[in-house]
Amino acid sequence: MNKISIIGAGMTGSTTAHWLAEREIADLVLVDIVEGMPQGKALDLLEALPIVGSDVSVVGSNDYAATKGSDIIVITAGIPRKPGMSREDLLTTNAQIVRAGVENTLKHSPDAIYIILTNPLDTMAYLAMQVGKLPRERIMGQAGVLDSARMRAFVALETGVSVENIHCYVMGGHGDEMVPLTRHSNVAGIPLRDLLPADKLEAIVNRTRKGGGEIVNLLKTGSAYYAPAAAVAQMAEAILKDKHLIVPASAYMQGEYGLKDMFFGAPVQLGRGGVEKIVEYKLDADEKAALAASAAAVKESIGVMMGLVKI
Ligand code: NAI
Ligand code: 2OP
Repeated sequence: MNKISIIGAGMTGSTTAHWLAEREIADLVLVDIVEGMPQGKALDLLEALPIVGSDVSVVGSNDYAATKGSDIIVITAGIPRKPGMSREDLLTTNAQIVRAGVENTLKHSPDAIYIILTNPLDTMAYLAMQVGKLPRERIMGQAGVLDSARMRAFVALETGVSVENIHCYVMGGHGDEMVPLTRHSNVAGIPLRDLLPADKLEAIVNRTRKGGGEIVNLLKTGSAYYAPAAAVAQMAEAILKDKHLIVPASAYMQGEYGLKDMFFGAPVQLGRGGVEKIVEYKLDADEKAALAASAAAVKESIGVMMGLVKI
């Protein structure tokens, strides 16, 4: 059986374990610094599995030794946003936490593939890659599957069409400058721009960009977890099943879209080796300009982080 270890057993970590356990694709380990909490959540989830009919093991621990031999490490440890906070406000605290997570897991799983969730996402993925000296194939950040799913959900609400017919693609950094690609998004092959009036489409684009903040403001404590966790589960399954699935995700850029030495959201093909390929769309001038603005925001965040954290 494959093995996935999730570092941080808070809202996104434990919900990721939940979605993954239902998929029955790997034994699961939840690690957290809070004593008893990962053990309690793991046991509760394990006791649900006879009901859903899934034969995987679920273990909670405060000891990284439990992660030994993992195929995939998911890092969700960190602090989430509170109302009024940007993802960047989390930078200093989360950098130390992510660093510890990567260093401690690599000792036990030197060949693991990393999926980073902790915010600010693209910056934390960059940090994790540097700290772990990971090849670009073995590290990615989850953001685009979530942001695109939000857009898909809003289009479904507007059109009344099944979510299965709705294909949306959001590129760029996981911040308010992200770029929902309306020209590439469609409902059963019909371009969104042909289906929805401009004002409705613009409203969907804006709501998608602010989708994380909308949930933060409603919850008041913490941020979204069902959809982010479902996104991680889809990515992990694509890797373990070697599906060659193309999803929007944050990957290390080596010249794609004219970007270098940074993580950025783009269509990424996932298989058993991790990131197989970054797919390049043909973009028009407006799309290029929007992506440049998003890239500038990510670069600035990485610059701030590099000034604060010694790698
Ligand atoms: P949470 O507060 O519910 O869980 C975080 C967990 O990390 C806590 O249980 C905490 O005890 C644990 N933790 C802290 N330091 C640790 C350490 N050194 N080692 C192990 N565990 C440690 O927060 P939640 O909602 O799970 O969010 C986690 C992170 O994920 C946040 O930074 C949040 O902004 C980010 N996030 C990212 C998303 C994305 O799409 N990329 C979506 C949702 C959340
Ligand atoms: C989200 O987009 C907080 O990044 C997280 O929900």
